[in-house]
Amino acid sequence: MKSVKVCATSANLGPGFDTLGIALGLYNEYGFKESEEYELVGFDSRFDISHNLVLASYKKLFEYFGLPPKPIHIEQLHQDIPVSRGLGSSSACIVAGLRIANEIIGNRADVHGLLKLASTMEGHPDNVAPALLGGLVVSSLEEGEVRAKRLRLSPDLVFTLLIPPFELSTSLARGALPKSVSMKDATRNIAHALFLIKGLEEGDIGLIKDCIHDYLHVPYRLPLIEGAKEVMEKVSNLGAAITISGAGSTLIAISKNSIVDKLIGIVPASWGIREAKVETKGSEANG
Ligand code: HSE
Repeated sequence: MKSVKVCATSANLGPGFDTLGIALGLYNEYGFKESEEYELVGFDSRFDISHNLVLASYKKLFEYFGLPPKPIHIEQLHQDIPVSRGLGSSSACIVAGLRIANEIIGNRADVHGLLKLASTMEGHPDNVAPALLGGLVVSSLEEGEVRAKRLRLSPDLVFTLLIPPFELSTSLARGALPKSVSMKDATRNIAHALFLIKGLEEGDIGLIKDCIHDYLHVPYRLPLIEGAKEVMEKVSNLGAAITISGAGSTLIAISKNSIVDKLIGIVPASWGIREAKVETKGSEANG
């Protein structure tokens, strides 16, 4: 049996709403082999065969090339990416299905083709782009065309995930956003996003901490994450930058040194705390 490993991602990083994302070293792994019929093993029982995102994206690649999909046996071997927590779990499923299909059809799609399909399925590219390319990635999806570029990232930064025990659906978190924003908020978000990129490149934690502040989505989503506002204030007082990871519920902190030990007593006991390495290569098919 062959396998494919896909990584977690944290989108937005504050002001980079729907455009900035980073690949993180938490992985799901799927085994696969051709089969007489469709078989899914080891998946969350909430997602039956007709709702399985790995299978849906698997079929999508065949459709893209005008090929009849081949029945497949897919097994979830390992799941480390928390579901519906703002860590790219659905992107990971989409990327896994596309990678599996691409293996089966002899790698006919290049990474750009996979990125375009994955972004269209997801509706925004900021999780799937780093999941495929690795590292820190800026991306856009406009009228079906996707652009993605890797950005330089200082190796001196520590990324820590503060993971609440509750899920937050992306559609609910997107539904909380305003239909329009003021010119003032749009302008200061652009400035923050550009400075943030520079801060991440140079490992300038002061610049990152100031410019991670977002005016387009974070203020509207924070009330959906119980306890997040208080946790963010306390973590910020430790000298770390902090924001919502993706659409939440996870918070992501960026610091110069490890802050894990200092989080005890600051983060509710029911939350998970994980320091995550940056995945520099993205999700590569193995086996
Ligand atoms: N950019 C997306 C959002 C990421 O914030 O809604 C979540 O999938």
